[in-house]
Amino acid sequence: MKLNHIIKAQQFDRKTLEEIFRETEEMEKIARNGGSDMLKGKLMATVFYEPSTRTRLSFEAAMLKLGGELISTENAREFSSTAKGESLEDTVRIIGSYVDLIVLRHYESGAAERAAKVSPVPIINAGDGPGQHPTQALLDLYTIKKECGRIDGIKIAMVGDLAYSRTVRSLTYLLTKYQDITIYFVAPEVVKMRGDIKHYLSNHKIPFYEETDLLKVAAEVDVIYQTRIQKERFGENIEDFEKAKDKYIINKEVLAVMKKDAIVMHPLPRVNEITLDCDEDPRAAYFRQAQNGLYIRMALLKMILLG
Ligand code: CP
Repeated sequence: MKLNHIIKAQQFDRKTLEEIFRETEEMEKIARNGGSDMLKGKLMATVFYEPSTRTRLSFEAAMLKLGGELISTENAREFSSTAKGESLEDTVRIIGSYVDLIVLRHYESGAAERAAKVSPVPIINAGDGPGQHPTQALLDLYTIKKECGRIDGIKIAMVGDLAYSRTVRSLTYLLTKYQDITIYFVAPEVVKMRGDIKHYLSNHKIPFYEETDLLKVAAEVDVIYQTRIQKERFGENIEDFEKAKDKYIINKEVLAVMKKDAIVMHPLPRVNEITLDCDEDPRAAYFRQAQNGLYIRMALLKMILLG
């Protein structure tokens, strides 16, 4: 199956997701056996206007493990000609004439869609402001499948910064492709889940509940998906950030009420919203989740560049 632009989670149907997960399982084997040269001769650009550790480096590692090559601008806001006033569209047109694929992270919602309209090569949205982060959602869903043995029937709690979290938004869209999903939203008042996502869930007949008692929800669910309160999204509204931070923290008390086979996920980076003493618990899946990002991104590069 050949993929083209990856812009938003809603673009995937269940058949495509299953094909991506099949390819990802193959990529895990390839990565563990030292890689491959299947993308020899292919060139990727990673163009990042916002900071990143996992997304940029896992895409770059994925390309190198498959024998391809890359060029990168990791602080495009400062070190690309954007600093001289060049538009995103012109930047993408130019970079697209040098490479076979562009991985783009931008600070504005909708930037990847704008880029895809003018790009001569496929665009992968690696996060567009508070918009979406579809490849994170793919690795999140893959992690749920791998850790829980299924996606259908999952009960999941999304916790923390639900208003601005592009990872939560994208994952929620993907979950609507599955059966018998139940979602609990647990968020401080100032960053509650936005109406557009709740409307989408209602339209897709996915039951969701807005709760305030994290311990009560933690005892019910198969997955807790914790998120960081993203200070950078509050602008000058620091009062709201102060109200939201530290409200919901995953700690040993929360782990104590969780089911024995439930898991804790987090897209990372973490600040203090999961205490360090949780890391040793086998249900702490967030570092395994981040590693799955490498395999998912190897699969996506292969499916875009080779089919
Ligand atoms: N999860 C995620 O997007 O991490 P980075 O910001 O480090 O890429």
